[in-house]
Amino acid sequence: MTHYTASRHDDVARVMASQQIDFIQINYSAGEREAEQRLLPTALERGVAVIANRPFAGGDLFRRLRSRPLPPWAAEIDCDRWAQVLLKFVVSHPAIACAIPATSNVAHLRDNMKAGIGRLPDERLRKRIAAEAV
Ligand SMILES: NC(=O)c1ccc[n+]([C@@H]2O[C@H](COP(=O)([O-])OP(=O)(O)OC[C@H]3O[C@@H](n4cnc5c(N)ncnc54)[C@H](OP(=O)(O)O)[C@@H]3O)[C@@H](O)[C@H]2O)c1
Repeated sequence: MTHYTASRHDDVARVMASQQIDFIQINYSAGEREAEQRLLPTALERGVAVIANRPFAGGDLFRRLRSRPLPPWAAEIDCDRWAQVLLKFVVSHPAIACAIPATSNVAHLRDNMKAGIGRLPDERLRKRIAAEAV
């Protein structure tokens, strides 16, 4: 079952509670964190895998972060670009199985693939990433 806006998370949660389903695909990113309230805890509780779509909020996060230099703590999670920090925020949530970023640019694809290696943020760094994305 898939959706892409927080306005339908309650519907997704209702189906999850009443049906035996293997996975959901929903929007989750440092800029769209609503799934943390109900969907992600429910998925963990019921053993439902979660694919995160819109991990860059459809590209909005790059518009917000464009003028901000990468903070020094990004090195603690082996990131040298904002894209990797944002993807690591998503996949470090315990309920998330994977993120599916979209790109039409091969350099961006290579950049995004680097988020699949190295250290992940702990709760302290996750809070800092979320604060940067506001
Ligand atoms: N099931 C559903 O209902 C549903 C709904 C929405 C989306 N999805 C899926 O979710 C996936 C992602 O969705 P999305 O495209 O809406 O959002 P997204 O992945 O959050 O954002 C894509 C945007 O980020 C840019 N981008 C990607 N990597 C970048 C990088 N390393 N540096 C700078 N910019 C970068 C892309 O531009 P460039 O092309 O220039 O890189 C594009 O504008 C897609 O596979 C989509 O099919 C599913």
